[in-house]
Amino acid sequence: MKRRHVVAGVGGVAVLAGAGILGWRSQVGTRGGYEAYTEQLRAPLPAQAGIADLVRYATLAANSHNTQPWRFRVGEHSLDILPDPSRATPVVDPDDHHLYVSLGCAAENLAIAGAASGRPGTLAPQADGSIHYAWSPARSHHEPLLAAIARRQSTRALYDGRSVPATDLEALQLAARMPGVRMLILTDRAQIDRVRDLVVAGNDAQMRDPAFMAELEAWLRFSPRSAMATGDGLYSGATGNPALPDVLGGPAFDAFVTAEAENDRYARHIDSSAGVAVFFAEREDRAHWVAVGRACQRFTLTATTLGLKHAYINQPIEVARLRPELATLVGAPGMRLDLVLRFGYGPTLPYSPRRPAAAVLV
Ligand SMILES: Cc1cc2nc3c(=O)[nH]c(=O)nc-3n(C[C@H](O)[C@H](O)[C@H](O)COP(=O)(O)O)c2cc1C
Repeated sequence: MKRRHVVAGVGGVAVLAGAGILGWRSQVGTRGGYEAYTEQLRAPLPAQAGIADLVRYATLAANSHNTQPWRFRVGEHSLDILPDPSRATPVVDPDDHHLYVSLGCAAENLAIAGAASGRPGTLAPQADGSIHYAWSPARSHHEPLLAAIARRQSTRALYDGRSVPATDLEALQLAARMPGVRMLILTDRAQIDRVRDLVVAGNDAQMRDPAFMAELEAWLRFSPRSAMATGDGLYSGATGNPALPDVLGGPAFDAFVTAEAENDRYARHIDSSAGVAVFFAEREDRAHWVAVGRACQRFTLTATTLGLKHAYINQPIEVARLRPELATLVGAPGMRLDLVLRFGYGPTLPYSPRRPAAAVLV
C-alpha cells in the first residue's frame, strides 16, 4: 500500500548491482511466476464447479489488509463463512467492524458463484458472527457479475480524470441497493476535495502512529515469493511497484516511506478520480456490517463490468475522531460511516494474492 517511495528511495540499479541479477531473481521470485500464480487463482469457474471452486471465488473478495479473516465450513447444501479472529487487525479495526464488512464481501461473491453454478441460495448472518449460505440445487444460469469476480481489484493508481456517464452512475447506485444500507456517490469536485483533505489528515495520523505502522508492516509482502508463500497480505507489485527482496523491503520501508510523500500520493490519486462512494448502514451491528460488505462488493463488481477501477480510502473512518466531520460532509450527520472508495478509469495492476481453498476450509 505504501511502498511507491520505498522503491524510488532504494534505487533499484544500485541494489541490482550489489545482489546480481540472478541473486535478485532468486530472492524475490519472478514476475512471470507470480502472474501464473494469480491466473490460476482467478481461473474461470468450471462448468461443473465443485465446493472448492465456490470457496475460491468467495475468497477473491475485497478484504481489509488482505488478511482474509475467514474460514469456510461445508454442510449439506450449505456453506458457513466463519470469522477467523487470528486474522483480525485490532489496531486499525478495534471492534472488527471491517472484518465483518470483509465477510460480507466474500458472502456476496459466494452467492453469485453459487447461483451461477446451480446452487442458488440465501445468505443469513448468525448470532455467532458466521454467515450461513443455504442453497437448493437448480439449473446453472447466467450471473451478470460472475465474470467480474476474477477481474475486480483494488487499483491504487493514478486514474485519468475522466468523468463517468450518468447512466453508469445510476447502474452503480442500483448495484449497491441492499436493505439497511445506504450509498452516496459524490462527483462534485468541491465535495471530493473536502473528502481528500480528510483522507490526508487520516493518513497523516496513521503514519505517525507506531502501533498502526507495526500492524500494517506485518501484512506487507515485498516480493512475489513471499506473496505466493503466504497467499495473503499487501503485495507491493499489486500497487504497481517493483518487487524488493524481503530482507530489504522492511528496512527500506522504514527509511523511505514518509507521511508527507504518502499524503501527497493520496491527494493526487483522489484528484485523478471521477468520484467517491460512501457506504453506511442504518444500524451499527455485525449483520448490518455484513450487508454493507455485500452492497459494496456488488458496487465494485458492477464498476469492474463498466470498465471502472476503484480503491478504498477509509482513513477518515479508521481514525475515529475524523468520522463525524466526514458524516456531516456527506449529509449523514450522526451516522457511523462504513466505507469510502474512489472510482474512475485507470490501469490494471498485478492482482493480489490469496490462500488456496484448502487452506480456508475447516
Ligand atoms: C472493509 C475493507 C476495508 C479496506 N480498507 C482499505 C484501506 O483503508 N486502504 C486500502 O488501500 N485498501 C483497503 N481495502 C482494500 C483491501 O486492502 C483489498 O481488498 C485487499 O488488499 C485485497 O486486494 P483486492 O481488493 O485487489 O483483491 C479494504 C477492503 C475492505 C473490504
